[in-house]
Amino acid sequence: MTATACKPSLSCPVTDEMVAAYRRDGFVKVPGVLTPEEVALYAQASLDATEQHAGDRRYGAFDQTVNIWRKDPLLKQLTLHPVLAAAAKKLHGGRLRIWHDHILIKRPQKSTATEFHQDKPYWPHATSPNPLSAWIALCDVPVEKGCMTFLPGSQNWTSLPAQDLNDSQSLANICGDMRWIPRVTMPLRAGECTFHHGLCAHMATPNHTPDPRIAYVIIYMDETATYSGIKHIVTDPLNLQPGDRLDGELFPEV
Ligand code: SIN
Ligand code: NI
Repeated sequence: MTATACKPSLSCPVTDEMVAAYRRDGFVKVPGVLTPEEVALYAQASLDATEQHAGDRRYGAFDQTVNIWRKDPLLKQLTLHPVLAAAAKKLHGGRLRIWHDHILIKRPQKSTATEFHQDKPYWPHATSPNPLSAWIALCDVPVEKGCMTFLPGSQNWTSLPAQDLNDSQSLANICGDMRWIPRVTMPLRAGECTFHHGLCAHMATPNHTPDPRIAYVIIYMDETATYSGIKHIVTDPLNLQPGDRLDGELFPEV
């Protein structure tokens, strides 16, 4: 397919109220980050890429294709999208690099829930205290199609061990308080997104509909991030030593 991305709208969609909500709760909804034309283009490209790479990793919860921006010039434009980068930097308040992207498809009627977890404990980062993810809906995602649910304030839980996103009790077993926190469930229209802090606990419902749920996630880390030494699919092939900077063309500044 020969296609070019549509010209992104250039204004930053994040208001001061959104920044305040993000800093308080650890997540925020940002509507209108992609045009309908962009959504159509990137949704098809995400389905094609998942098919082509057979979803690099297939789980019960989703098929995951990691770092597609390094292989697909069209989706590279989405991962490096200036509107999303501007939104991320306004929420974060400083300089950011791409950690990785991933396409997360919940297969029709077959997927399980993505259970409650924090993202940051999975990542081999030192000196990146405030990573954040843009979770972009490339189709309408009502609750029954696999939308996200967040635990407000959980970004302040800074020292929990990694939780198992296939185990519904994993976070509760580590942090019983989570059971009593009101949850915020966030259905999204195509072209809307949420941003969440790397420590903000979240889950996603199963997809009970006949169509795939197409989510595209861009993860930003602090510009200062260094390698911590723990295993991760993105850094394992790179022969890094703990303390090495995660910079250069594989981790571009946005
Ligand atoms: C999902 O979309 O199923 C989960 C996304 C996430 O854990 O960040
Ligand atoms: Ni997550």
